[in-house]
Amino acid sequence: MMMTNPTTDAGARSTPDASPQRFLTGITTTGTPHLGNFVGSIRPSVAASRLPHVQSFYFLADYHALIKCDEPARIQRSTLEIAASWLAAGLDPERVTFYRQSDIPEIPELTWLLTCVTGKGVLNRAHAYKASVDKNTAAGIDPDADVTAGLFMYPVLMGADILMFKTHKVPVGRDQIQHIEMARDMAQRFNHLYGEHLVLPEAVIEEFVALLPGLDGRKMSKSYDNTIPLFTPREQLRKAISGIVTDSRAPGEPKDVEGSALFQIYQAFASADETTALRQAYADGIAWGDAKQMLFERIDREVAPMREQYQALINDPGRLEAVLLAGAEKARAVAKPFMAELRQAVGLRSLGSGAVAAPKHKAAKTAAPAFKQYREKDGRFYFKLLDADARLLLQSQGFDSPRDAAQAIAALQKEGPAALPALQDKVAAAPEISASDVAAALHFFAANAH
Ligand code: TRP
Repeated sequence: MMMTNPTTDAGARSTPDASPQRFLTGITTTGTPHLGNFVGSIRPSVAASRLPHVQSFYFLADYHALIKCDEPARIQRSTLEIAASWLAAGLDPERVTFYRQSDIPEIPELTWLLTCVTGKGVLNRAHAYKASVDKNTAAGIDPDADVTAGLFMYPVLMGADILMFKTHKVPVGRDQIQHIEMARDMAQRFNHLYGEHLVLPEAVIEEFVALLPGLDGRKMSKSYDNTIPLFTPREQLRKAISGIVTDSRAPGEPKDVEGSALFQIYQAFASADETTALRQAYADGIAWGDAKQMLFERIDREVAPMREQYQALINDPGRLEAVLLAGAEKARAVAKPFMAELRQAVGLRSLGSGAVAAPKHKAAKTAAPAFKQYREKDGRFYFKLLDADARLLLQSQGFDSPRDAAQAIAALQKEGPAALPALQDKVAAAPEISASDVAAALHFFAANAH
């Protein structure tokens, strides 16, 4: 689940001109929303979507769900529950663009274009994929055992989600920052090759979002099986809350708010005054049973009206479907023409309409620095580095084998100028060439490392 926070919009509001900032949030459809999702994601996102000068896109990431879940019924049910939860919590589909990822065929289409500008090595370093590989390696089995290409490609699909709508800001938890950086790199690489089409997105990190503890005191999370469902019926909510762990202090004994999951959950729902009152009750030795009753009443007070909405929506899937399809239409009104522009840009073009241009010389087209390897009459192997205008930047001495030359190039591409000292006998800057020109060219390779 993504997390957003109203504070993220301070930046949006302070933009000087009237052009709105576009925010985008994806929610993977694999589970039932719980109180932690509500406090950390749904509630702040809905609040943020109401601010002026903000254009928000919220979507159900059901293509992403397929990566983690192979139970069709669960994906469908989760889609229903998440859509109903967000609407019940006040998301206004007239004001925002609220859609289901798999209703936008342009998303997988853009995914392919981005796949073709994403280094495989970059994806090798993605946290989720690397974690699987590390786990397999530690277990002494094949590094890619049970790793699907879907998991490997996860960041590219996410890049397409973001770049399709020219998103400026993506509110994320820390675990997702890398994905936003990857989307930026994809956009940069694409623009470098095909012209300025994609907007470089930025992550907005949610420092202040409340992390709700679960029943056992650890972070509330499906993977810990310690969640309280958001819209469970009233009596079940009471029962779930009675299962929150407390210490063994008897009624009348003062209690610590520090480290008390019950207190933290209360705080996430209560006003400052209410929180102060419970703090005092702790000091006065409130019985755990009474504290739980207070927490139950407080949450139920906030959730009950939404719960009614939620039930009505869950019982009317046809209405939800219509809302999502209307959202998809809005999203496709952006995605379709933009995809046509991108197809044109990369050369997926109609032959029928107008002239078919002759390909330009490659060097002129890519306008990027390049290493050239060659062999001289002396039988030795050389390389040089040219900048985008084919100006000579670096010249090597002769190497014994093409492999030695290639290794030196690889070091320069990977480490950039830092590789130069070790190569000082072998590689020198051309006359009149500044160190900063060389550095700029070498950084290009590091930035586009594949
Ligand atoms: N990866 C996100 C998550 O696990 C879900 C997601 C998919 C997303 N596409 C996105 C989030 C695009 C933000 C932007 O929660």
